[in-house]
Amino acid sequence: MLRSVILAASRSPRVERLISTAPVSRDVVRRFVAGTQLDDALGVGRGLVAEGLRLTLDRLGEDTQTPEQAEATRDAYVQALGRLADAGLTPAGEVSVKLSSLGQRFDEKLAYQSARAICAAAVRAGTTVTLDMEDHATTDSTLDVLIRLRSDFPDTGAVLQAYLRRTESDCRELAGPRSRVRLCKGAYREPESVAYGIRHDIDKAYVRCLNILMSGEGYPMVATHDPRLIAIAEDRAKWFDRAVDTFEFQMLFGVRPGEQLRLADAGYTTRVYVPYGTQWYGYLMRRLAERPANVAFFARALASRD
Ligand code: FDA
Repeated sequence: MLRSVILAASRSPRVERLISTAPVSRDVVRRFVAGTQLDDALGVGRGLVAEGLRLTLDRLGEDTQTPEQAEATRDAYVQALGRLADAGLTPAGEVSVKLSSLGQRFDEKLAYQSARAICAAAVRAGTTVTLDMEDHATTDSTLDVLIRLRSDFPDTGAVLQAYLRRTESDCRELAGPRSRVRLCKGAYREPESVAYGIRHDIDKAYVRCLNILMSGEGYPMVATHDPRLIAIAEDRAKWFDRAVDTFEFQMLFGVRPGEQLRLADAGYTTRVYVPYGTQWYGYLMRRLAERPANVAFFARALASRD
C-alpha cells in the first residue's frame, strides 16, 4: 500500500517540486546518489574500484520530453565514457542507460540512434552498456532496441524484471551465448494483469528466472540485495558449474555496502550501480518505495529540521 502511494507520487510533478526543493532532501539523496556532477561519480567509482568492486554509472534522468534533452543526455553519456577511460576506470566501470532519457517515449528511432552512439563510445572506452528496464509499457520497445543494438554491439546488456509475468519467457530468449542479462525484482508500479504483486510470488519468479539464466549460456548479472536470493544464486552457480567469471552480483550504491564487500572478498565479481546527476527525484522515490525504513529515515530527517 505504502509502496503504491510512493510510486504514484514518483510520477507527480507537484510532489516532485515539493520534495526536490526541500533542503532536507539533500541529506537523504546523498545516501543513494553519488552527487550531482560526473566528477562526484568518478570519485565514488575510484573508491569502489580500490575496494575490489566494479561499477555501472547511471546519469539520472528519465521521461525526456524533447529531442534537445535527449541529445544532451546522449552527449553526457559519451563524455562520461571518455572520462571513465581517462581515469583508468574501464573495463571495471560501464554505464547503465534508460532509453526514456534518450527520447524513447516520443521517438524510438532517436532513442535507438542515441543508444548506438553511446555503445560506440563504450567500445572506444573498452567497456559496455546496459539498458535499464522501465515500466512494462516500454518492455517490448526496449527489448527490440536491444536486439538491434546487439547485432553491432553484442555485449550490450539488458535488464529483466522478475515481477513481470512475461519475464521467464524473456529469460529463455536471452539466455544464449554472450547475452548479458541483469535480473532484478522490478521497481515500478505495475497492474496485477502484467506483474506479480505479492513479494513471495515475485521471489519465486526470481528463482525460476535465475535457474533459466544460470543454466543458460549467457552472463547473468544477479541484481538483488535480498540475502535469500543471493544465497540461492551462489548455490545455482555451483550447481551449474559456473566459473566465477561467468556471472556477477550487482547492488545499488548506498544499499548493503558491507554485503557488496563480502561478495567481492569471496571472489565474486560485484558491481555497484552508481547514479549521479540533478534529476534524482524518480530514482529516490523508487528507493524509498522499496523499504519502509527508508521512508522513516526521510520523515525523521524532515522532522528534525522543524
Ligand atoms: P528487496 O526489495 O526484497 O530487498 C531485500 C533487502 O535488501 C531488504 O530487506 C533490505 O535489507 C535491502 N534493500 C533493498 N532495497 C533497499 C533500499 N532501497 N534501501 C535500503 N535497503 C534496501 N529495477 C527496475 O525496474 N529496472 C532496472 O533497470 C533496475 N536496475 C537495477 C540495477 C541494480 C544493480 C539493482 C541492484 C537493482 C535495480 N533495479 C531495477 C531495482 C530492483 O528492481 C529492486 O527494486 C531493488 O533492487 C530492490 O529489490 P531487492 O532485490 O534488493 O529485494
